[in-house]
Amino acid sequence: MELNSENKSQAKVEIIEFGPLKITGNFLLKDLKRDKEESLGEVLLCRCGRSANKPFCDDSHKK
Ligand code: FES
Repeated sequence: MELNSENKSQAKVEIIEFGPLKITGNFLLKDLKRDKEESLGEVLLCRCGRSANKPFCDDSHKK
């Protein structure tokens, strides 16, 4: 998707070392598994694959 001045993302994506992706700002999360789309303001998404609550991080990466 090409970004222009009308649809620029307001979100910030941070890669937490050895942890999740932290997304903050104005964004929509479309979760196909739960068939819903929500605006959360901040979310931590699992990158390690160990979370029991995917796509969200549940701190399993710390174990
Ligand atoms: S990154 Fe935290 S549980 Fe996977």
